[in-house]
Amino acid sequence: MRKYYQAYEDRYKQVHQSQNKPWAGDKPSLSIENLLKKYGATSKSSILEIGCGEGQNAIYLMQQNFNVEASDISAEAIRWCKEKAKLAGVDESKFFVMDILNNNLNEKFDFIFSVAVLHMLVEDEDRQKFLKFVRDHLNKEGKAFVIVMGDGKMTRKTDPSKAFELADRPFEDKMIKVATTSCRMVTWEQYLQEFKRAGLNIIDHYLDRTISGFEVSMVAVVEKST
Ligand SMILES: C[S@@+](CC[C@H](N)C(=O)[O-])C[C@H]1O[C@@H](n2cnc3c(N)ncnc32)[C@H](O)[C@@H]1O
Repeated sequence: MRKYYQAYEDRYKQVHQSQNKPWAGDKPSLSIENLLKKYGATSKSSILEIGCGEGQNAIYLMQQNFNVEASDISAEAIRWCKEKAKLAGVDESKFFVMDILNNNLNEKFDFIFSVAVLHMLVEDEDRQKFLKFVRDHLNKEGKAFVIVMGDGKMTRKTDPSKAFELADRPFEDKMIKVATTSCRMVTWEQYLQEFKRAGLNIIDHYLDRTISGFEVSMVAVVEKST
């Protein structure tokens, strides 16, 4: 049986087939590049994106000469990324399908980042699996940037059994029917506690209003606790 957090596959298929456009647009969030530079990433640093969706961030970073591999659970998302990577003249083989809740890589990274993925995970157990994947795949001095929807005050938890149901959602200047997907928003206190439980130290945390597609996002910069 498909897990609720696979519902984006349906949404991407619906939008790509009916609109031939990306659901999330093609504007990268410059915050990621700024964070990579702030924490000393160079073209030699190994970087993993978790839940890259339609690839706007990974493709942009590859164009800036960063060494990025990017993964998503959705085969449709990765098909789209490979097509766009080819057009952008970057290495399409760096994109691959992976459910990070049920897989591991034989590699550790200097940087891991993820934009708007953890808030899709509604169940505590799944959220801990996500954070443990991050911890287990960071190099000793590695840093991760985990960005989720939220303002640190509002809480929300959708019913996972409804994730695949079709609903009207705004797309450009019209409404279209897409899979509902899932969402859990937590307070800062809960968010920071989740990192600690998973063995991650918080280096910095703040709100960011520049992440594409979201009014306000919570950014956590973390590293492995010793
Ligand atoms: C809200 S979208 C964000 C996509 C992209 N990061 C962006 O900013 O546009 C969430 C993404 O997380 C992916 N995802 C959800 N659960 C996942 C999992 N267990 N492993 C890998 N990717 C997952 C979805 O397929 C979807 O592409």
